[in-house]
Amino acid sequence: MENEPVPLIAVLISGRGSNLRALVEAKLPARIAIVVSNRAGAAGLEIARDAGIETRVIPHGAFASREDFERALVEALREKGVTLVCLAGFMRRLSPVFCDAFPRAILNIHPSLLPAFPGLHAQQQAIDYGVRISGVTVHLGTPELDAGPIVLQAAVPVAPDDTAETLGARILIEEHRLFPEAVRRILAGGWRVEGRRIVWLGGSR
Ligand code: GRF
Repeated sequence: MENEPVPLIAVLISGRGSNLRALVEAKLPARIAIVVSNRAGAAGLEIARDAGIETRVIPHGAFASREDFERALVEALREKGVTLVCLAGFMRRLSPVFCDAFPRAILNIHPSLLPAFPGLHAQQQAIDYGVRISGVTVHLGTPELDAGPIVLQAAVPVAPDDTAETLGARILIEEHRLFPEAVRRILAGGWRVEGRRIVWLGGSR
C-alpha cells in the first residue's frame, strides 16, 4: 500500500524562532518544507538550517508595496506545495492577497488571551492593565490583526512582581506546547468555521 503524502507546512518568522524550534522538535504528522523570514538576520533561520530545512529570506523592504511582498511570499510557498502556514513571530500584517491564497490554512500564535491585548507588546499590555491571568492564543490568520477564529488557548497567571520579560518567559513555555498541538488538531480535520467560531465536529475539544 502506498503511503499517504504528508502535508507540507511553511513557517514564517521574523526573529528568534523559539516557536519554530518547538514545531521542528514536535512529532508533527507533517513536514516543514520551508522557513521564510522577512529579515535576513533572524536567528530562527539558523534553527531551520540546523534542522536541514530550506530557508528563504524575502525582505519586505525590497518590494514597492505590501501586496507585491505578499505575492512573492505566496509564490515561494506555492512552489513548495505548502498547504498550511504557521506564523511564528512573523511581524508583518497580512492583507487579503496572502490570506485569500491560503484560506483557513494560516495559524498565528499570540502571547495573550485574545481578544485581550492584540498587537505589539501583549505581555506589557497585560501587566499595565493589571489582569491577573493572561496566556496564549493560537488562531486562524486573517487580515484583521490578531482577530481570526480561535483554535486553542491556555491561561498563564500574572504574578504581582512580573515584568514583561518574566511573564513573557512563562507564556513562552505554554506557546511551545500549544502551537504544535494546534497544528495537530487543524491537520487532523473534523472542524469548520461558523462565524467567529471554530466548531469541532464530534464535540468541543
Ligand atoms: C512569540 O511570543 C509569539 O507569540 C509572538 O512573537 C513571539 C515570537 O517568538 N507572535 P519566537 O520568535 O517564536 O521565539
